[in-house]
Amino acid sequence: MLTQVVLLHNLYIHMTRTADFLVIGSGIAGLSFALKAAKHGKVLIVTKSNEDESNTKYAQGGVAVVVDKKEDSFEKHIEDTLIAGDGLCDKKVVEIVVEEGPARIREIIDYGTNFDKTNEGFYDLAKEGGHSEYRVLHYKDITGWEIERSLLDQIHLNPNIVILTHYFAVDLITQHHLGEFVDKSSNDINCYGIYALNTLNGMVEKILSKVTVMASGGAGHIYSITTNPTIATGDGVAMVYRAKGKVRNMEFIQFHPTALYNPGEYPSFLISEAVRGFGGILKRTNGQEFMQEYDERKSLAPRDIVARAIDAEIKKSGEDYVYLDIRHRSKKDILAHFPNIYAKCLEIGIDMTKDMIPVAPACHYMCGGVMVGHSGRSSIRRLYACGECSSTGLHGSNRLASNSLLEALVFAHRIYKDALNVFNDAVIPDNIPQWDEHGVQLSNEDILVTHNVREMQKLMSDYVGIVRSDFRLERAMRRLGLLYEETEEFYKRTKISVKLCELRNLLQVSYIVVKSAMLRKESRGLHYTTDYPIHADGQHDTVF
Ligand code: FAD
Ligand code: SIN
Repeated sequence: MLTQVVLLHNLYIHMTRTADFLVIGSGIAGLSFALKAAKHGKVLIVTKSNEDESNTKYAQGGVAVVVDKKEDSFEKHIEDTLIAGDGLCDKKVVEIVVEEGPARIREIIDYGTNFDKTNEGFYDLAKEGGHSEYRVLHYKDITGWEIERSLLDQIHLNPNIVILTHYFAVDLITQHHLGEFVDKSSNDINCYGIYALNTLNGMVEKILSKVTVMASGGAGHIYSITTNPTIATGDGVAMVYRAKGKVRNMEFIQFHPTALYNPGEYPSFLISEAVRGFGGILKRTNGQEFMQEYDERKSLAPRDIVARAIDAEIKKSGEDYVYLDIRHRSKKDILAHFPNIYAKCLEIGIDMTKDMIPVAPACHYMCGGVMVGHSGRSSIRRLYACGECSSTGLHGSNRLASNSLLEALVFAHRIYKDALNVFNDAVIPDNIPQWDEHGVQLSNEDILVTHNVREMQKLMSDYVGIVRSDFRLERAMRRLGLLYEETEEFYKRTKISVKLCELRNLLQVSYIVVKSAMLRKESRGLHYTTDYPIHADGQHDTVF
């Protein structure tokens, strides 16, 4: 039952809401879970910006799934995912996602999602780096926008789903808030919901739930150059970490090789890998091809390889970018496949049918996250994690392009099935306190927050980027420590704001990334360090 109780307490107006299923985030993971759970109970979605603002909305290339069983097969998609993951994927999870994927895609098509078809009426499958076959379903070059649109259309029709926009989830509620001691070794931590900031009136509300699903997306903004929209500040991972839940493999941050080089634009606009799948060739600024010097798959090698090659070329040439050349394809084909990318480039004076596109790598995807099992359960009871904020084991040390939208759909379904049992037995304690704001003051020093965000992004970009070393990681850790202490001290005496909470979360996530990177004494997938340039014997996950 969704109820609202308003209490006057210590001059603050406190509001308590309750839900059967609480979902944090309105991207593909949160929305697809909500639509299923709503068949069995009241669902409350909290989301920190407009309802459609999410990484999902900006997905371009599409969804990798086996459609054409003549040329393609589950075995090939599994193999490509394992190769990209460079020895660290959970094979069982890869099989689950690939084999359950087609049924989940059928569901979103039934919800009304459109994917492009050929004139003959077959799905127009694209190819991206690391894929041995054409298997990427897409809607022009705005696939994520189309999926988000169709899911939200269904959400709006569902009377069992309430969506609270401009609500910022601050912290998970556990027995810690009832005065009980919990730490990382506790295996009986329960999640009872969240404290959330209503950003329109500045009040923190208590939201209680039988089941909570973290679907808060990625953390692109730990770096100063990213393709992610500004919502991607790692809030979910930081919240779970603070609540003493486990997070895994956070050193594996994926840099997309080809973000549009357009100084001053933040976040960066993505030039989809599908452009390379369509024949686009990476070239030096003098027009020479170079990928053959790095990998026999050339411009369509897996992302970690292409991003490192571009990084090396940029360092050698002293230029800030390389070029992507698609001029050999016809204007008609380019416009049919990439209307959004074409329009964006034209806006800044580049006609991609006649000009090469300047591109450079940008932080794009968080391959690690909240550690979950095969049903999406986190290490905290009654808390699930889904989508980019989770670490299911699918991506290993490097995500295969266009596998993430599929992963979110498959795990949203698995969580839904599992959560039905959990929610039936769940009891919410009736003595959970309201958010405590005693002793805090309104800040008139927002520059402290802005400065620390910039400093953190700069140090992460300079010291914890595509190529790492012990020396750089140690420097990063020392500086993060200072920023962390300063921010915690400020946080304790300041009335919370979204910007302050995001800074705190970004710092926490950066700290975990660096700590994980320091522990990995080898190069694997997206983690490349000059001190240990090859694979170590055996494999291990980094878990905190
Ligand atoms: P998101 O879609 O990011 O949703 C997260 C939600 O959580 C948002 O609504 C956000 O506002 C909300 N939120 C976050 N923190 C809080 C908080 N504290 N309180 C309340 N709400 C919060 N993947 C593919 O498979 N194929 C592609 O073609 C592809 N292209 C991409 C292109 C771009 C430019 C980008 C950035 C990513 C792309 N990806 C692609 C990756 C993919 O889009 C994401 O991994 C996926 O959409 C993540 O979905 P999600 O639901 O987990 O998170
Ligand atoms: C792209 O279109 O290049 C993005 C695909 C992805 O991140 O999976």
